[in-house]
Amino acid sequence: MYDIIRQLEERRARARAGGGKARVKAQHDRGKLTARERLDLLLDPDSFEEWDMFVEHRSTEFNMDKNFVPGDGVVVGHGNINGRLIFVYSQDFTVFGGSLSETHAEKICKIMDQAIKVGAPIIGLNDSGGARIQEGVSSLAGYGEVFQRNVMASGVVPQISVVMGPCAGGAVYSPATTDYVFMVKDTSYMFVTGPDVVKAVTHEEVTQEELGGAITHSTKSGVADMAFETDVDALEQLRVFVDFIPSNNLERSPEIPTNDQANRQEPSLDTLIPEDQNESYDVMELISKVVDENYFFELQPDYAKNIIIGYGRMDGETVGIVANQPTVLAGCLDINASVKAARFIRFCDCFNIPIIMLVDVPGFLPGTQQENGGLIRHGAKLLFAFAEATVPKITIITRKAYGGAYIVMGSKHLRGDVNYAWPSAEIAVMGAKGAVEIIFREDLIDEEKIKERELEYQQRFSNPFHVGTRGYIDDVIMPHNTRWRIIRSLRMLKNKKQELPWKKHGNIPL
Ligand code: HXC
Repeated sequence: MYDIIRQLEERRARARAGGGKARVKAQHDRGKLTARERLDLLLDPDSFEEWDMFVEHRSTEFNMDKNFVPGDGVVVGHGNINGRLIFVYSQDFTVFGGSLSETHAEKICKIMDQAIKVGAPIIGLNDSGGARIQEGVSSLAGYGEVFQRNVMASGVVPQISVVMGPCAGGAVYSPATTDYVFMVKDTSYMFVTGPDVVKAVTHEEVTQEELGGAITHSTKSGVADMAFETDVDALEQLRVFVDFIPSNNLERSPEIPTNDQANRQEPSLDTLIPEDQNESYDVMELISKVVDENYFFELQPDYAKNIIIGYGRMDGETVGIVANQPTVLAGCLDINASVKAARFIRFCDCFNIPIIMLVDVPGFLPGTQQENGGLIRHGAKLLFAFAEATVPKITIITRKAYGGAYIVMGSKHLRGDVNYAWPSAEIAVMGAKGAVEIIFREDLIDEEKIKERELEYQQRFSNPFHVGTRGYIDDVIMPHNTRWRIIRSLRMLKNKKQELPWKKHGNIPL
């Protein structure tokens, strides 16, 4: 018995040592933490229950039968974040470069299966050289098994990938199928084919960072939702982020009590909209002034900045906020903004998070680049996602809501539950200038007359009242009361139930 206990301790110690001191030092020298150090930071103290610490690979080729490290390059199990159950895997780059073998994949699949059964989020800390080269197709099969579970878990439990080292080849498709991808600047990269292959095939010289670093994916490709400075920063922020989301699709996000009064007024919002309708203002000011304690967790802050997405809380409850940003492209919707917002709305709808739309949108961005790039299909994603969502949907039109963008950005016609407009709202087929140039073309030579026509159009349509007479907005509200009016609507909508007609799944224009 004593012998077994001694052996147990020895085996545990070997597993905990990972790839050994030299490789751990190399990991630290690169500015990266080890797999276990990351888990220590991510999870509540003493909450981690490790599984499969003694698992070893089964390969025999290329001398692998003489080369074993218990745990096989990935640490898996469950623990808590702020008291809530989370399943987690953390790849250990110090063991065979964190590469994925058949058994490494089995460990990941085991905790994914369990997370789905008990309804808890799955977090993957990725730091891997990809498929274990010595294993051939067995390791590829392992990836396939992980991908299948990513898809099965999608919409059932939240899945978050944190890329903290290499993630290359087909391996990128596991993070890509999860709900959120966080990266760490300078130490992580993701690409389907690396710089060497790119050079061989296209003769293009590119660095790892340019091709797939955290900055690239958080500013250009939109693959990453966030780019953090260091491992520590990423893990700390991840703990904050997890509190905004529920554990599974049958639950709500945890309520976080607040001292911020529900009926707090913000007089400064009454002057947020500039006198000149073509002047911009920062919608972040509106967001931060309406959410609890002015705290907003923005996602994809450096990508498609013409639309803002992220989480806040109102009256302690998580809300997903989608807002046009007038300071960038005048808040126009383009391809990237549409896809960014559509995917966010779908997550909110999967996981019972009410959606708040803050609308100031002059329309879809015109031009050949957008049209040839498929603005029709991509814009339709946003329309589809909002129309299909059955969670509480609240829309506030602060200023412009023109044309198709008016419909898409949370209108009553797409089953918005509560639609309010500020007195500054202008809801029309298009701006007065454009409209007059089309319907009064014959007057274009007469500047005075055109001005008159514009004023006429503006008085007729560019206000909230003509839409109010139709019932397409429920009320015109004072900006300073926005927080309170939203919170009252959220309380009213708490038990909202809405069913979609039976279907296997819709066919969103992907
Ligand atoms: C086995 C691997 C490995 C792999 C790295 N190692 N990648 N072992 N399979 N895929 C081992 C190395 O042999 C080395 O072992 C240790 O990990 C650290 O690797 P280094 O090369 O010394 O580290 P570094 O210089 O930081 O380079 C990291 C790297 C590089 C860029 C990730 O190792 C690399 O290019 N690896 C191969 C990447 C790759 O092509 N993977 C397959 C992608 S295709 P020792 O013992 O020396 O410490 C793929 C298909 C998935 O993944 C398909 C799914 C459908």
